[in-house]
Amino acid sequence: MNWDYVIKNGTIITPHETYQAHVYIKDEKIAAISKQPLEGETKKETDATGQYILPGLIDVHVHSRDPGPTYKEDFFTSTQAAAAGGITTVFDMPNTTPPTRDASSFHAQVANLTPKAHVDFGIWGIALGPMNNAQLPKLHEAGVIGFKYFWGYAVNKNTFQLTYNYEPGMTDVLPPLSDGEVYDIFQNVEKTGQVLAIHGEDSSLIQVLTEQVKKTGRTDYNALLDGRPNLAEEVTVQMGTSFSRASGAKLHVLHVTTGEAADAIRRAQAQGAPVSAETCPHYLFLSNEDYPKIGPVMKIYPPVKYEKDKEALWEAISDGTIAIVSSDHAPHTPEEKAGGLWKIPAGMPGTETMAPLMLNAVNEGKLSLQKLAALMAENPAKRFGIYPQKGSLEVGTDADITIVDMNKEATIKAADLHSKSKVTAYDGWHVKGVPVETIVRGETIMKNGEIVHKPIGHVVKPTK
Ligand code: DOR
Ligand code: ZN
Repeated sequence: MNWDYVIKNGTIITPHETYQAHVYIKDEKIAAISKQPLEGETKKETDATGQYILPGLIDVHVHSRDPGPTYKEDFFTSTQAAAAGGITTVFDMPNTTPPTRDASSFHAQVANLTPKAHVDFGIWGIALGPMNNAQLPKLHEAGVIGFKYFWGYAVNKNTFQLTYNYEPGMTDVLPPLSDGEVYDIFQNVEKTGQVLAIHGEDSSLIQVLTEQVKKTGRTDYNALLDGRPNLAEEVTVQMGTSFSRASGAKLHVLHVTTGEAADAIRRAQAQGAPVSAETCPHYLFLSNEDYPKIGPVMKIYPPVKYEKDKEALWEAISDGTIAIVSSDHAPHTPEEKAGGLWKIPAGMPGTETMAPLMLNAVNEGKLSLQKLAALMAENPAKRFGIYPQKGSLEVGTDADITIVDMNKEATIKAADLHSKSKVTAYDGWHVKGVPVETIVRGETIMKNGEIVHKPIGHVVKPTK
């Protein structure tokens, strides 16, 4: 047999095994994995001695802003950032203008994203409640990766962009839905059999508490947390898990930030509710105590909480309550992120820094490489119905591979990010363990931090 690409002498890592082998790629697929060298010519070869071969990493939570406020980011730059960070598949979040709200906007989005995609991609559909419940079956048939509901957000009436700092009485916004309307989203998504992902924060609680705190004149980070406390996440996640159990809808709790929410998810899972959860690097590596050093860049919704929550989230990862780590890549410009804490938008880029930070945590003994392969490849692929095409290292599946060097050291620099938004909480952080090659369906997209290929990404749809 002749091969397109052979990766020799690496150590294969899956959630279940670690072993040395050569990987043989042909026609975009893994054609063989062998401990002994195989016969045949190859067009290309890499020696991965001392390096680790992971299933291509998946980032299920990327806001690319495309179409819409593309001055912050677009799909060309977000997928460049992803590839630079060792990611081979991203899931595109639907808070775009227009949002991915029906079958025709889904097809338009596939056409828009494909020519810019450095990596493969799934597309989230948005759930807007009464405005598009009737469209969900068609979105499902078209091939969305799941449905996202921004629970707790008001959105702009015309652009559907999120209102980051909502105050009652604002005009031009669609206010957050009632609990009953949210339950109806669960019922409608259940009929599709797909996953409903929620941003979970209680808007009425946040409105009342934020107003109280603002009256005191405080503008410090803990004031933001007093207005948007752990309780705001806890009550919504609790209601969400109850709605999931009652409706039968598969629920995915996005970006869990608190021990209270992790406890609620753990309880719901123990009762058999179809609930999964993710957290993000900023909740695992930062707490309110970092704010004086990092500043307003760190404002993200839900906000980064306390040291005790950080510890609780690592525990929830360790016991499997939280089975996915995503970036919640949410770029804004440096100017937008520089104002007062009450005014500026929430979010920062993260898809490029996620794998280095997690690999560094492996080197620090916080988790194993096998666990990382579960959190960032196998588990997301299984949850969203694209396994084993994605998220595995098996003969016959897509040759999506992330090669990592656990001895290589690097310093994260905001100015070097591939995102349009040169903003990060981790500027100057030193890491040991970095992705050195990103391979999408057999093509090397990133090598040693450089993007070396034109966009070749395809849309990925769940298997029915
Ligand atoms: O901080 C955030 N930014 N949280 C979200 O829920 C949305 C995101 C964005 O799109 O900016
Ligand atoms: Zn998000």
